[in-house]
Amino acid sequence: MPEVNDQEPFIRVRGLEQQFGEQKVLRGVDLDINRGETLMLLGGSGGGKSVLLKHLPGLLTPKAGTVEVDGVEIGCMSERQLAPVRRKVGIMFQNGALFDSMSVGENIAFPLREQGVKDEKEIRARVAEALEIVRLPGQEDKMPSDLSGGMRKRVALARAVVGKPACVLYDEPHAGLDPVTADSIDHLIKELQETQGMTNVVITHEMRSVFHIADRIAFLQEGLVYWTGTPEELKASQDPVLSGFIIGDSGEPWPEGDGRAEEARR
Ligand SMILES: Nc1ncnc2c1ncn2[C@@H]1O[C@H](COP(=O)(O)OP(=O)(O)OP(=O)(O)O)[C@@H](O)[C@H]1O
Ligand SMILES: [Mg+2]
Repeated sequence: MPEVNDQEPFIRVRGLEQQFGEQKVLRGVDLDINRGETLMLLGGSGGGKSVLLKHLPGLLTPKAGTVEVDGVEIGCMSERQLAPVRRKVGIMFQNGALFDSMSVGENIAFPLREQGVKDEKEIRARVAEALEIVRLPGQEDKMPSDLSGGMRKRVALARAVVGKPACVLYDEPHAGLDPVTADSIDHLIKELQETQGMTNVVITHEMRSVFHIADRIAFLQEGLVYWTGTPEELKASQDPVLSGFIIGDSGEPWPEGDGRAEEARR
């Protein structure tokens, strides 16, 4: 085992390139994700955020460049070699990706069974604990189709954390949620960081969450990391791409005399 220095980033991405057919999606991404931080990944739709995230537990193989997790390069690993990496890095997919034919409890137990946990009593206890963490205690027997959108997100979150990974990747955990439920997801993410020292990587379009829970932000544009910094630095930035993104301004003209648009730009 290589020696791991705690000061080293937990995940280090260098020169990462990915393309599908002719379409270049990642064009040389460099990114460090530090141990125990909440890094939020921002950027326009279709810019490659989800594709980048899928490289971190080795769900996609780089066309070029490297991804190191906890000091080990994972780019050329086999599925078998990747199993321990996936124990360290849990992922909550953009669409939740619950198995509709399995109960909530079985969905959450899935990664434990994949890891080879056999003791049914232990599985039941860990599923119950994960449901407590996401504040859905006792919901094991419900089917995914019987849940609200916000509950599905929480179950997906429980499934991502049940194996107690060192790092969890969240792909738009706030999308489609009311502001109060979105806020409670933020509390959960921050609580996991503070109580379990978890490293969090969160893709979101929710600027309110960014300013609430991010330690650092990386802004992805056209397959490259365009900017990284703290929430304070983002707020203070004069860069038109960043400030336009924060207030949701495309730069396109509004009808004459629309005072609200002028006000938003100020
Ligand atoms: N498996 C795939 N095969 C072909 N093209 C893909 C695949 N996955 C992603 N893409 C393409 O890569 C581009 C980036 O997709 P990605 O899902 O990473 O965007 P995103 O930044 O997450 O956007 P959004 O904010 O809308 O979720 C898109 O044009 C998408 O169609
Ligand atoms: Mg996406």
